[in-house]
Amino acid sequence: MNNFADGRLAVNIGDIYLKNPVIMCSGTFGSGLEYNEIYETQIIGAVVTKSFSLKPMEGNKPPRLCETSSGLLNSIGLQNEGIEFFIQDQLPFVKKLKISPILSILGTSSLEFAELASKIIKIEHELIAVELNLSCPNVNKGGITLGSIPDSVEEVTSIVRKTLNIPVIVKLSPNNDNLIEIAKRAKSGGAACVSLINTLIGMAIDINTFKPKLGNVIGGLSGPAIKPVALAKIFSLYKAEVLPIIGMGGIFSWEDAIEFMLAGASAVGLGTVNFVEYDAAINIINGLIDFISKNNLNNISDITGKVKAGQ
Ligand SMILES: Cc1cc2nc3c(=O)[nH]c(=O)nc-3n(C[C@H](O)[C@H](O)[C@H](O)COP(=O)(O)O)c2cc1C
Repeated sequence: MNNFADGRLAVNIGDIYLKNPVIMCSGTFGSGLEYNEIYETQIIGAVVTKSFSLKPMEGNKPPRLCETSSGLLNSIGLQNEGIEFFIQDQLPFVKKLKISPILSILGTSSLEFAELASKIIKIEHELIAVELNLSCPNVNKGGITLGSIPDSVEEVTSIVRKTLNIPVIVKLSPNNDNLIEIAKRAKSGGAACVSLINTLIGMAIDINTFKPKLGNVIGGLSGPAIKPVALAKIFSLYKAEVLPIIGMGGIFSWEDAIEFMLAGASAVGLGTVNFVEYDAAINIINGLIDFISKNNLNNISDITGKVKAGQ
């Protein structure tokens, strides 16, 4: 247990402090409560909750999950019980278990994000940060639809930032080709950092029925298949020196986590791996500690952005 709070793992991402740089990705770990039945989820640097909307959402029609080569396609469509459920039903247990929560929220317009933020004011002191899901490819409104318009990104970020006193993280999509412009507008809106990547738009077809394998036809691809894409996006954004980065996309091992940090990530997110290896976080944090010791580092952040690419 103590190892996981080894001071050499502590990182600052903008004004966010984490005891270690391993974060659970939104939508892949609940709010950390169920996994806590298997191990103490308080060891994790932070748990980003499933994205919560103002009102409960039913999500997309099934099937919603489908395995592909080295990847997972999902079209959950942000099924969730609504923000009040998190506040009333989940937060008391999150507190009790000493989980470090980052609350992910999704609005369909800047007005909805404003309303969500006003509901969060009363609990903000319990949160490490709030993450704006401006990148989900599985919903018709909000998500990537808002997140691909630079003006909307700045407006939404600034509304939430001005309402709350906690750091704001903007989650970015790999499906936009104006990633750096979008990140700059998140910064102008007051974001502390950005997280990337959300899933890549994908599709799979059943050759016996001729039907798409997902009820929603298209979905979001995650897992090892997207790791090289994620690394390239993070590397290009790091070089542009816009904001600190939380990197995710196919991390399955501590070696993957190191690669993401070398590319420019200050912290790393674990997503799909949680469906394959329930205690991946433990193995990855232990791997990072060994790496620090073997390489005589003062702190894991010493390697952020240190890839030797053409210098
Ligand atoms: C089943 C599933 C549900 C997800 N739900 C959300 C969500 O609610 N909000 C969000 O911002 N990202 C969501 N994501 C995206 C992940 O947080 C993460 O950005 C993405 O899966 C890439 O990381 P990975 O390859 O390690 O899974 C979801 C991903 C999966 C696989």
